[in-house]
Parts: sequence; C-alpha cells; structure tokens
Amino acid sequence: MSRLIVVSNRVPVPSKDGGAAAGGLAVALQAALLERGGIWMGWSGESSGDREPGALSLQQKGNITFALTDLTDTDVEEYYRGFANRVLWPICHYRLDLAEYGRKEMAGYFRVNRFFAHRLAPLIEPDDIIWVHDYHLIPLAAELRQMGLKNRIGFFLHIPWPPADILVTMPVHEEIMRGLSHYDLVGFQTDYDLQNFAGYLRREGIGDDLGNGLFDSHGRIFKAGAYPIGIETAAFAEFAEKAANNVMVQKTRRSIEGREMIIGVDRLDYSKGIIQRLEAFERFISNNPAYQNKVTFLQVTPKSRSEVPEYEHMQKMVAEQAGRVNGAVGTVDWVPIRYVNRSISRNVLAGLFRLATIGLVTPLRDGMNLVAKEYVAAQDPDRPGILVLSRFAGAARELKGALLVNPYDVEGTANAIARGLAMSLEERRDRWSRMMEHLLSHDVSLWCKDFLRDLVAVPSSDRSGAQG
Ligand code: G6P
Repeated sequence: MSRLIVVSNRVPVPSKDGGAAAGGLAVALQAALLERGGIWMGWSGESSGDREPGALSLQQKGNITFALTDLTDTDVEEYYRGFANRVLWPICHYRLDLAEYGRKEMAGYFRVNRFFAHRLAPLIEPDDIIWVHDYHLIPLAAELRQMGLKNRIGFFLHIPWPPADILVTMPVHEEIMRGLSHYDLVGFQTDYDLQNFAGYLRREGIGDDLGNGLFDSHGRIFKAGAYPIGIETAAFAEFAEKAANNVMVQKTRRSIEGREMIIGVDRLDYSKGIIQRLEAFERFISNNPAYQNKVTFLQVTPKSRSEVPEYEHMQKMVAEQAGRVNGAVGTVDWVPIRYVNRSISRNVLAGLFRLATIGLVTPLRDGMNLVAKEYVAAQDPDRPGILVLSRFAGAARELKGALLVNPYDVEGTANAIARGLAMSLEERRDRWSRMMEHLLSHDVSLWCKDFLRDLVAVPSSDRSGAQG
C-alpha cells in the first residue's frame, strides 16, 4: 500500500496528552495515515517575522510524521489573511460584496503555494499518494507538477464551490481553475458544488466533460466528484452519552431546569447566519409569547480570524444583536439568549447538544456543516432533539429528517422553531432515526476510503504512462 501525504494549511498535531480535542476529520485522516504510514504537512500557525522560515519542524507520532513550516509575517498577511480569507473564502460563500482584491495578496498566495511545494517535494517518494485539503492550497499540485512530480495528487474542498457567474468576478479565476486541473481527483462536498465546477468549464469553454466524472481541461484528464464528508458517528454518539455526566453539562442542565434548550454552535463567521438566527429567535418569542421564560437559547461562538476586518466587525455585530434581543424580549427574571464568545471543549459540547431540544444550524452558505451532523449523533435515542437546518448547508442534501429553513426568511425560521418545540415524540424519533441511520452508514472513515479508492483508480493523465 502506498504511503499517504496529507497537506493542509492547519495541521492538528496531537497534543502530548493524546489529543482528545481532535475533530472527526483529523481522526479519520490520522487513521488513514497510520494504516499506510505517511506525512501530514502544513503551516505551524507561527510566524518567522521577516526572516525566511527555517527548515521544516518534524515530529514523529507512530508512523506519521508531522512536518510543519513557519511563514513570514508578509506570507501570513498576504496568503492567509489576504487571499485565502478575504478573497477565496467570501467568493466561495457567494459573498462577492466582501471580496477584497489586492495584487500583493494574489501574488502572495501563489508564492506561498510554491514555497510549500519546495518544502514538500524532497520528502515525496515516487509511489506516494498526495492528498491536499482546502482552498488555501489550490495551486499546490501545479507547483509540484512543475517540479516534475508525477504522483497521484487529490484535492478536497471543504467549503462550497460557487457558480461560474460568481467565480468569474475573481480576477485570477483562470489561474485557480487551471490549478485544479493539475490534480487527479478533485472532490467537492455536494453535487451542487460539482455542477458549479462543471458549469464553469462548459461555459468558459476550457474543458470537456468526458462522462463518469472525468474531465479534460488544460491538457490533463482528471476526475471530479462529490464526496460528502461525514463524522465519526458511532464514537461521537458514545462520547455524548458519557458527556451527560460532565460537571459543566450537569450545571447547565440544572440552570435551565423547567425550560427547553435551543443550541447554536458556530465559529464567528459571516457565513454562519448568526445575526439572522438571533433575529429569528426574537421573532419566535414575539409570535409565541407562551414560550416566554420557557426556553433558553445557548449560542456558542468561538472567535475566529479576528485580525481580518470583516470578522472583527462581525464580532461586534453579533454581540450587539444578542444584547439587543435580550433587551427586547427578556424579562426581569429571564435572559433568553446566553451568548458565549469563546470555545468550549468537545466533551462539554457533545453533552450540551444532547441537552438541547433544538439544534439551530442556519448558515447562509456552508460546505457541509459538521455541527449539524454532530448534533444529530449526540441525541438520546429515546428523546431525540430536532435539527433546524439551513437549506444552504451541504448537510441539507443528506439530513432529510431535519426541518429545513431558508435562513434569510426570518419568519420561516421562527416558525420552524415553534414547529420543532411542538413536535410529537413519535415524529421526533422517526426523523432522528432516519438521519442517524444515514450518518452511521456514511461516516468519515468511509468518506476517506472512498476518496482514496477513487484517487488511485483515476486513469493516469500522464500521457507517457509513467505513474500508477
Ligand atoms: C473552515 C475551513 C478550514 C479552516 C477552518 C478554521 O472549516 O474549511 O480549512 O481551517 O475553517 O479556519 P482557520 O482560518 O482558523 O483555519
């Protein structure tokens, strides 16, 4: 079996105490790496100031080598904060209004990808399979090919891929699309994203759809497909059951005694629809005064990318909105929204998911949204909660038992909350078991296996037929 090389901007290096904080993706990729042996390469999260970063820092854990590089201040500013977070992120989330194009940032993005390729190439052996993750590293394969590498290289995009009309507003859309054609397999979260990708190739006349997921573009043949990512369903369900005994979870349970709990958990990001969600909760209370003092809405929102201006602004807006709604519908003895602006351990979160009668997951646009899946997996099978889910999350394509909402429609989301709280236990169980069955049979290890199986099986695009 070939060795596996995973490359991503952030690398979840296991902590000394065993790293229980790791999410499902990290666990699944580490399992694949453990099975085959391999390397996980990426940014250390540290800056080397204005000096060229030193050699890769290598940490061996079993048969996995974690290979981390620092980046200069300019690299972090241009590649990460500038292009990845202020161009690709908003564009892929359909927010052309928020994209900030700067020539320096674009150049920085391609430069850092070349730098990654130069650091990675000496570690690669001819039979290694390379798997690149997410929008930070789209040009990586093109850079590696430029250096003569013929290995199998796959790419998985964790976020949405926009329609051609949106993508073409980005000045370097051609370079980005050319970058994708250097992979052997390009994976998206949903068939919508895949259709957007294929639609661009068709519309711009730069690729032929050969059928069976194969495309011919920029002189290469590659495959593109939808590979909806899963979670570690069975393990998370067990985790949530145990977490019910956690001290913080028990304290929370006592503090909401006699009320229903609604939960929202999101990184602080404009794509998550938190402002609209808080408004929908306010509307729900105004439309249903009988629920006054009968519900508690816990919104957990860890800070994220705070140095990026749009995120700093968002942080202020969400805090203001939570305060405003509490002021508007709260009473002397009841604070309707508990807003927590920091991260909570996965253990406590799992227990809180299980306590909540409603999981409110209402992004304006989201690649998949694993909170939706984890909320479902965390439920007590006897008294499962209800998932209220945005139709614009990738997860909505799979979780048919959820109450689907349009997060821009505040009244509609408010009505879904009311409907969820009034739902019979029988309907709750029926909806939940359908979703849980799907999540158990489509977990993250299957996702990982499916992607790697297809990556190996793609017909070779190397016309001299050198590599298999
Ligand atoms: C999303 C992206 C990831 C990213 C994460 C956190 O889930 O798909 O690639 O790592 O957000 O964002 P950050 O900018 O802190 O890495």
